[in-house]
Amino acid sequence: MTAQPTPAVDTYASVAGKTFIVTGGNSGIGAEICRFIGHNRANVVIDWIDREENNQPLIDEITAAGGRAVAVRADVTKVDELQTLVDAAVEHFGRLDVMVNNAGLETRKSLLESTEQDYDLTMNVNLKGAYFGTQLAARQFIAQGGGGVVVNMSSVHEDWPMPGNHAYCVSKGGMRMLTRNAAIELAEHNIRVVGIAPGAVATPMNTESPGWREAEQALKQEIPLERIATTDEIAGLVMFLASSHGTYITATTITVDGGIALESSGL
Ligand SMILES: NC(=O)c1ccc[n+]([C@@H]2O[C@H](COP(=O)([O-])OP(=O)(O)OC[C@H]3O[C@@H](n4cnc5c(N)ncnc54)[C@H](O)[C@@H]3O)[C@@H](O)[C@H]2O)c1
Repeated sequence: MTAQPTPAVDTYASVAGKTFIVTGGNSGIGAEICRFIGHNRANVVIDWIDREENNQPLIDEITAAGGRAVAVRADVTKVDELQTLVDAAVEHFGRLDVMVNNAGLETRKSLLESTEQDYDLTMNVNLKGAYFGTQLAARQFIAQGGGGVVVNMSSVHEDWPMPGNHAYCVSKGGMRMLTRNAAIELAEHNIRVVGIAPGAVATPMNTESPGWREAEQALKQEIPLERIATTDEIAGLVMFLASSHGTYITATTITVDGGIALESSGL
């Protein structure tokens, strides 16, 4: 008997049987997206680069729920390794339907503090990875026919400056334009490109950073909904965008932030 979805894992019936790639897929938001994919009986190539111990429990949960999963190690800063993810989707599941460019990191330094290495690392993971992830997925969508969806995991900081986290904001600003430009270029192929801009989410990116407990308390004061997001509140939107409900959404970024960007930045 297959496992029933947990209350947090809603069902989006039309994604069943579709094949996803999720970069940075074995941790935080990416792992939750993979769980949702499994519980909706779809297929996923889980991209990973560290935390290998997370892979098998995630694959086991996805399989028990009726989905199919394979974990593939690929560094998104390398175009040939990104291509191995697309190749794995075709090899294991026959096609690719949804590319989720989720891998990301932050160096948390100001413009004056940032080194060339900080800049290169942040831009290569957050922007170059998504740029070529979008390109390679689009080429596969066009080759196989039938369109496809790219979801770029951006941030409220694609618009909203965050002093002290300079390269991260620049990379997400670039992702904002990647999403818009790619969506216009690819629309004739029935390929949609959509960004998601989370506010603060309880994931290792935050919870493993120094001073998180104090930062969390301060954030709760600022967020109109008075709490940090949970990962399922982001993953559910990915499912919606990939489902038959999301078919008219493209060339935009959807903010999921409890109201903080508008409240705090006036954007
Ligand atoms: N947590 C938040 O508050 C928040 C807010 C807005 C946006 N985001 C975005 O959500 C995405 C996921 O972050 P998260 O919060 O789940 O953090 P996380 O640290 O749990 O996940 C990031 C993932 O990216 C992977 N990664 C890093 N470098 C990589 C590389 N070179 N190749 C392949 N994978 C690589 C990591 O291994 C990890 O799995 C990121 O793009 C992040 O910018 C997070």
